Amino acid sequence: MSDKATLEINGEKYEFPLIKGTENEVAMDIKSLRGATGGVITVDPGYKNTGSCESAITFLDGEKGILRYRGYSIEELADKADFLEVAYLLIFGELPTNEQLEQFHDDIKSHSVVDDDVKKIIDAFPKSAHPMGVLSSLTSALTAFNPSSVDVNSEEQMYNAIVRILGKFPVLVSWAMRKKQGLPLEYGDDSLGYVENVLKMMFKSPNKEYEQNEILVNALDKLLILHADHEQNCSTSTVRITGSSHAGLFASLSAGISALWGPLHGGANQAVLEMLEAIKEDGGDTKKYMAKAKDKEDPFRLMGFGHRVYKNFDPRARIIKKAADEVLGDLGVEDPILDIAKGLEQEALEDPYFVDRKLYPNVDFYSGIIYRAMGIPVEMFTVMFALGRLPGWIAQWREMRLRKEPIGRPRQLYVGETYRPFKEIQNR
Ligand code: ACO
Repeated sequence: MSDKATLEINGEKYEFPLIKGTENEVAMDIKSLRGATGGVITVDPGYKNTGSCESAITFLDGEKGILRYRGYSIEELADKADFLEVAYLLIFGELPTNEQLEQFHDDIKSHSVVDDDVKKIIDAFPKSAHPMGVLSSLTSALTAFNPSSVDVNSEEQMYNAIVRILGKFPVLVSWAMRKKQGLPLEYGDDSLGYVENVLKMMFKSPNKEYEQNEILVNALDKLLILHADHEQNCSTSTVRITGSSHAGLFASLSAGISALWGPLHGGANQAVLEMLEAIKEDGGDTKKYMAKAKDKEDPFRLMGFGHRVYKNFDPRARIIKKAADEVLGDLGVEDPILDIAKGLEQEALEDPYFVDRKLYPNVDFYSGIIYRAMGIPVEMFTVMFALGRLPGWIAQWREMRLRKEPIGRPRQLYVGETYRPFKEIQNR
């Protein structure tokens, strides 16, 4: 294959280098396009054809259903690693040795106390506040409590900012939930593993010892691993572009949390459960909702189906579907919602509308079912996604800063009014 692409505009030919990634993906490097052509730009709303960066963190092949973090397959990681190991791998590029992992965990634990004044901020939120809004605000508020900016040329400062947020974030997650439930806001237990600690902080009741349930610990660990990174998706791109202005890590993460909240992104897991419940309330007629999803006059979409990148299957959905069956079986949960989900999945997999458009269940189709079986309230589902995605966001932010990427600032094609003279108010 040639290493150049030729573009012809108004009879004039321009050459642009073709660059290859390590998985043989090819990209046209158009950095010089505007300058060379005297102002021509590309337009690509939704960035379906635009690579915003070069990245060595996550590889995915949407056609083949491949997802790898730093070269390791998601299947192997979900099976053999724990969430903290995966976080280390994503952020620093290699799987940790025992000593590195222990040190990493110790450092995270040493930062797992949040300034008690943060509780006053939580108190000011109405109980009806969505926990994603609370989490985004609190993450941003951490900037005020930890004002020193990070010198990206200092490995030590970068590391400290990273372990600090990994330590404090689960506390904020648990507080966002407990505030809603009227439960006291507690701190974690340093003797526990990262995920065990998350569960205890979330579910410990004030008048009882908390007992760990291995099934829940394993299920949550797996869910967090599956969500830990997904290359340049909406929230990750938000984190990178926010950080590209040299805004701090916590501020960049807070922006990413807001982006994740939307129902077309992380908010889909909540939307899936709400959709399944609505179908149940409406008599469980999945065919009716399939018809609605296919009706172009009806804005209804089958939540949890379709993916911008995966056009054959979502490898995370396969792992999670199996996990959902195991967790529900182990916990002895019989859930009519699961039957509705399975019915919808079956119908969609056989329906030409979904088959032709390559719409398959995505990771969020099943994650909500597991969260529900674990006793996690629906409004917390996207918060759990954020907890899982945290290492990915951190890794991408760190990579962007270490590569000294320029500030993200897309162009536009202006299609508004051309110049017109100002009209005095009495003449409008
Ligand atoms: N239900 C019904 N029809 C759908 C669905 C769906 N869930 N998803 C896509 N379509 C249809 C569209 O109407 C369109 O049909 P057309 O070609 O006849 O106009 C076609 O499939 C292509 O859809 P697009 O919206 O162009 O696909 P895109 O790649 O832009 O969107 C997205 C992907 C946003 C995920 C979409 O499939 C969707 O809205 N799904 C439901 C929400 C969801 O589950 N989001 C979670 C994504 S995973 C994550 O964030 C972790």
